[in-house]
Amino acid sequence: MIIRKAHHLKGEVTIPGDKSISHRAIMLGSLAQGTTQITNFLQGADCLSTIDCFRRMGISIENAADKILVHGKGLHGLREPDNILDTGNSGTTTRLISGILAAQPFETTLTGDASIQKRPMRRIIEPLSMMGADITSINGNGCAPLHITGAPLHGIHYHSKVASAQVKSAVLLAGLYADGITKVTEPAISRNHSEIMLGYFGASVQSEDYTVMIQPEPVLYAQEICVPGDISSAAYFIAAGLLVPGAEVLIRNVGINPTRNGILKVAQAMGGDITYLNIRQEGEPTADLLVRHSTLHGITIEGDIIPTLIDELPIINVMAAYAEGTTLIRNAAELKVKESNRIDVMVSHLSGMGCDITGTEDGMIINGGKPLHGTIVDSHMDHRIAMSFAIAALIADGETNIQGSDAVSISYPSFYEDLIRLTH
Ligand code: S3P
Repeated sequence: MIIRKAHHLKGEVTIPGDKSISHRAIMLGSLAQGTTQITNFLQGADCLSTIDCFRRMGISIENAADKILVHGKGLHGLREPDNILDTGNSGTTTRLISGILAAQPFETTLTGDASIQKRPMRRIIEPLSMMGADITSINGNGCAPLHITGAPLHGIHYHSKVASAQVKSAVLLAGLYADGITKVTEPAISRNHSEIMLGYFGASVQSEDYTVMIQPEPVLYAQEICVPGDISSAAYFIAAGLLVPGAEVLIRNVGINPTRNGILKVAQAMGGDITYLNIRQEGEPTADLLVRHSTLHGITIEGDIIPTLIDELPIINVMAAYAEGTTLIRNAAELKVKESNRIDVMVSHLSGMGCDITGTEDGMIINGGKPLHGTIVDSHMDHRIAMSFAIAALIADGETNIQGSDAVSISYPSFYEDLIRLTH
């Protein structure tokens, strides 16, 4: 994909469904009794991997253009898959499904693509083993492929070292099958979509400060789920609207759950002109956002806000490259274990475009305001890297050539069409 400097960015864009919520809707729909209807489901490759895994375990899932129907079979209705489950590029599928598989009366082997096979799985192996499951990393490196032998599970109180919704959700899903209460305490609050949706389907989940607690063995009942637009996808158009001179963009249907909305707080703290319109409740809080070109300045981003914007840090790097002054990002070591090492990749390609950026152990320091110039960037098949550089390209001189640009199909298949429409 070759992208040139933009001289115009105006119009409206409707953001596709939230990836995290789409995964959870398929999983809980499969474990519920009755037919769950999902609208605005994200038809991205990661969510299609989740559908594929549950189909292989005997769940009938109809994927029509405007809605998904999941014919759930109850908590004990999954069957042993004939083959290895392939989670593709999806960390959420891999970690959350492990929590479910840990309790099944059968054995499964789970693997994914080259990136998944490098991502840390000890963080779920440890708590699920404490609950009584037998999970091994087949190559002994703490990564997929995983072999999971389900077992009767015990309730535990797990203190997670990382603020990770994937770890928390894996333990909570296993907790559905445990013989007592399961609790997870995190060092900072991570996205709470699992807690919200489990409550929706009939489970008893309570949160207090950094701890979430789930009661075992509920009956989950099928629901109608309308998935709000993904704020992580909206983030690219928020940044584009702020950065491109004269821009004005109306971004429709953005989920603004407080455990996800750090990008909005940061953009406003940097001086961004963002107006919330039509705030409503669609299962989760949702709004339309009007974003106008702004002069931005650098800030420090650290502490409890980090989990609420962890997936947006690559595009925040681009905003920081444009902003005047220094942006300091700390406490974000998790960036190193995402779909790519997002500290190394952002530092190497943004400096290649002329930005003054230095990587640190847990983040980066960006001295912004220097002109960017187009160059060749490699997405490392990481969707968020591809989209971040597509937006950086809009303010860079010349043209930017994004290799591995089709990685966007993971979370935002129509990204380039929407971008091209707004810039023409
Ligand atoms: C996700 C949680 C986050 C996020 C990922 C989706 C989820 O990962 O980065 O894109 O759906 O639970 P961690 O739990 O590893 O922080």
